[in-house]
Amino acid sequence: MSLESSRIAFERARRSVGAGVGSGLRAAMRPHPLFVSEARGAHVWDLDGDRYIDYVMAWGPLVLGHGDPRITDAVVDVAGRMQVVGTSHVLEYTAAEAVLEAVPHGERLLWSNTGTEAVQVALRLARAATGRRRVVKFAKSYHGWQDAVHAGLDDGAWDEPAAPGGRGQSPSVLDDLVVARFNDTEMIERILAEAVERDIAAVIVDPIMSNAGVEPPAPEFLRALRARCDRHGVVLVFDEVIAGFRIARGGAAERFGVRPDLSVFGKAMAGGFTQSAVVGRADLIDQVTDGVVHAGTFNGNPVALAAVQATMGVLADPSVHESLESVSARFEQVIGGLLAAGPRTARLQRVGSLLQFVPDGEATNLHGTGGLWSQILGGMLANGVLFMPSGKIFLSTAHGQADIDATADALDKVLRELP
Ligand SMILES: Cc1ncc(COP(=O)(O)O)c(C=O)c1O
Repeated sequence: MSLESSRIAFERARRSVGAGVGSGLRAAMRPHPLFVSEARGAHVWDLDGDRYIDYVMAWGPLVLGHGDPRITDAVVDVAGRMQVVGTSHVLEYTAAEAVLEAVPHGERLLWSNTGTEAVQVALRLARAATGRRRVVKFAKSYHGWQDAVHAGLDDGAWDEPAAPGGRGQSPSVLDDLVVARFNDTEMIERILAEAVERDIAAVIVDPIMSNAGVEPPAPEFLRALRARCDRHGVVLVFDEVIAGFRIARGGAAERFGVRPDLSVFGKAMAGGFTQSAVVGRADLIDQVTDGVVHAGTFNGNPVALAAVQATMGVLADPSVHESLESVSARFEQVIGGLLAAGPRTARLQRVGSLLQFVPDGEATNLHGTGGLWSQILGGMLANGVLFMPSGKIFLSTAHGQADIDATADALDKVLRELP
């Protein structure tokens, strides 16, 4: 794997595209992003024609792998007939019906394009319903890049004004944010007991901390959250942008048996096309007919909704998630086993088909672990395996035993060659 054409392409991209990448976080890819010319199943091919086993899976959306014809055929069919129309079309409700059928608390939904936008809408609905202003999030969790929630990305001073996640963000909106510690039931109960005095409208939680180490919720944590939100009139929002349709057909609510008031979905719902949604209680969502603004030129794009409907159709078959779970368990066993036996030990954290590489003694956050993983990454790329810089590993139904075996061979070699 020479990566030479990708290196040249990246140099050229940097002259026209800010930082040379379409999304800022991708700049972390080393030695530079891989430029893909084709993607199929569990594999991508770069500009030199070299094939890589892909564990990036577009940072989450591709639960069925790249280019599943059941999705792409549906998209091609609709794209030939219409693109955005700016008025209504049937897929808006047929795709919605398919999503509501899959999600345990799905009474109504709103279409948006990205997870970031849908989070904004969900919090607006919560503020409108409660007449309160502030939102509780958990330290290290990522809910998109808008100023109001892109903060508190590190461990630290709980319950204090959160630190902004980047330069240029408005500090004034951070007074609206309260930061709690994930899986700390006592802390969240204490904060919510003062919900009225502290003006708390909503709690937003990524139930599996998908961008901060992949940490499943403690058995009592989500149940306590649900009970305290009910008691103190706070809207409970699950951010299932990664978890949704990946860790179970009905996402975190199905997997953990706790129903939030609203869930935010994105990534996997459209099998690789751009679509997100806020799903949940009809009375909350129906506020859009009563002064709550939810807008967007591209909302309900028929091409993307064809992909949503096709994806929901595929996921309705329980064998899809069964096979996703079994390939993920196998990956954990084989690759986790190699890591545990390696010269510098690390483990894999797993919830469903989302895994996170965690080296002993190193903390992880949105940007990963640095250290050992960055040494492994480069070696794996040279051996035809594409991993994410953060150490998150996304599996799909397209990954098979041959991919796991090839990954294990490459990892074994890379671990042996570590300095
Ligand atoms: C948990 C979570 N919430 C929200 C977002 C934002 O979604 P998007 O990138 O589509 O704006 C992401 C993106 O990675 C995410 O992982």
